[in-house]
Amino acid sequence: MGINDRMTVEDYKEIIEDIRNYVYVECGILNGDQLDIAKYAFVYCMGIELSVDYAYRCIRRFDKDMNVSITQCSSIEFLQDYIPETFMPTFFLLDSHYCKTQDGEPDIEKTDFTLWKELQLIKENNLPDIVAVDDIHTFGKNRKGAPYWKEVTRETILAFLGDRVERSKDYKDTFIVWLK
Ligand SMILES: C[S@@+](CC[C@H](N)C(=O)[O-])C[C@H]1O[C@@H](n2cnc3c(N)ncnc32)[C@H](O)[C@@H]1O
Repeated sequence: MGINDRMTVEDYKEIIEDIRNYVYVECGILNGDQLDIAKYAFVYCMGIELSVDYAYRCIRRFDKDMNVSITQCSSIEFLQDYIPETFMPTFFLLDSHYCKTQDGEPDIEKTDFTLWKELQLIKENNLPDIVAVDDIHTFGKNRKGAPYWKEVTRETILAFLGDRVERSKDYKDTFIVWLK
């Protein structure tokens, strides 16, 4: 996510009418830059990161933020535990799908393509969650190192979520789907 594409606190409040009732879950946090904005908008935020290096950097970064928790694991493993337990609706930012790190930064873990598995778990949740899939500008395109990304479009996401979809909208570089 580029700096100009980042969601702001005002964006979150515009997207989510009753934001104080929503938990924020970000799958794939890297350095935690988006989480560092979300923590001012949501009452409680959870950041999930597979890479041990990045997860521990974020644990240190958010050490003093009592409304932020970081979990080092795969987003799938996290959602399998979180979804059956949660009773509050959640804003899910799904961003664990692809990442190029800067020179000199630690490599990230190679992972399976997570998006459809994440969406399947969220689809089974019976709450009015909001799903945000990042990187609209790359939807339907070939991405180096991400062979399945070409299948990701607004249409395939909406078709996959089926009758759970209430409405959807592009928001900066993020595709937002409100579930019912
Ligand atoms: C595009 S970056 C995230 C950027 C971040 N959301 C932001 O806006 O600053 C993708 C991150 O997802 C992580 N990741 C990849 N596969 C994952 C998985 N299965 N579960 C959790 N995190 C994963 C990578 O290690 C990387 O840090």
